[in-house]
Amino acid sequence: MIVLGIETSCDETAVGIVEDGNRLLSNSVASSMDLHAKYGGVVPEIASRSHIEAIIPTIKSSLEIAKISWKDIDAIAVTYGAGLSGSLLIGVMTAKTLAKTFNKPLYGVNHVMGHIYANFLTKTNLDNYQMPRENPTFPMLAIIVSGGHTQLVVFNSFFDYQVLGITLDDAIGEAFDKVAKMLGLGYPGGVAISDLALNGNDKLYNLPIAKVNGFNFSFSGLKTAVLRQAQALIGEDYTFPSIKLSERLKMSQKADLAASFQYVAVRTVVDKVKKAYLEYHPKSVVIAGGVAANQELRKQLQEVLGFEIEFLDIKLCTDNGAMIATLGSYMHKEGRGQVNPDLLQIEPNLKM
Ligand code: KG4
Ligand code: ZN
Repeated sequence: MIVLGIETSCDETAVGIVEDGNRLLSNSVASSMDLHAKYGGVVPEIASRSHIEAIIPTIKSSLEIAKISWKDIDAIAVTYGAGLSGSLLIGVMTAKTLAKTFNKPLYGVNHVMGHIYANFLTKTNLDNYQMPRENPTFPMLAIIVSGGHTQLVVFNSFFDYQVLGITLDDAIGEAFDKVAKMLGLGYPGGVAISDLALNGNDKLYNLPIAKVNGFNFSFSGLKTAVLRQAQALIGEDYTFPSIKLSERLKMSQKADLAASFQYVAVRTVVDKVKKAYLEYHPKSVVIAGGVAANQELRKQLQEVLGFEIEFLDIKLCTDNGAMIATLGSYMHKEGRGQVNPDLLQIEPNLKM
């Protein structure tokens, strides 16, 4: 069974092809990130225009890399939410058209759930992919940490799951990006923060861990605490504009702020993961989303859980089409959620 997945929820135009729900045949991604960087965040109009230009070449490249043609494809899966509406529309319109043209079953996929399903990819013949040794087993605790989402989900089986908690304000990646902007590190800032943090003291500033009930998260207070600490360091009060901070801070101060922020942001997630682990006794723990690349997160998780999590290849952690094809494969296999191409609509605020 071969499924083609299309993902256009944000700034990546991505198409992946997956066989039998676990073998990665191709994973093509065209990103418009460079066009957004100078604006300090994703500009929806630019993202949509880039998707229009990139979608057909990305589909072609994905088919070529997988060395297959349309007759080999059993089903098409596409992200229909959550995401930017203009971006989602391009993927969904393309998928509907292809499903009708080639007479293939069509599946609408939830983006966040797709991130989790990337963990079921265990085989590939592609070069430069590090695949996990084995399939995750149920019950499975999934940690989603990306620029748009932060949540914990426990799965008893493929489609029987419970969302334990979500972020009440910023996503963790968004907090990394906002702090990076404050420190003048550019966009997206996750990698820049973690690189700079290597030279800093992560205990120097006593930043607060948000006390939120249950398994929910909050990162906006932490972000403000970094701002206040930075203003105090240069002898200014809360009225000093964040945009001018970076020129007044010394490099060593930026490194200490980055390290202290990263430590607490990661601790916020890891504390809740530990609580969930003790309460739900999962047989496997998986992680998804761009922040999964963060080394401090990997270190703290291993310390707290006492075993090593099998981390996904980063190319499968960030937004990609293969994760959508993987979830589509299980939907197709279980006969779940096939949609009439004339009726599929985008859902920008879709929840799990
Ligand atoms: O999953 P993703 O590619 O896109 C979304 O669906 O949001 O995640 C992107 C996010 C950005 O906020 C980026 O700054 C963050 O992941 N990120 C990192 C690292 N690499 C990417 N955050 C912390 N440490 C990293 N090494
Ligand atoms: Zn994502």
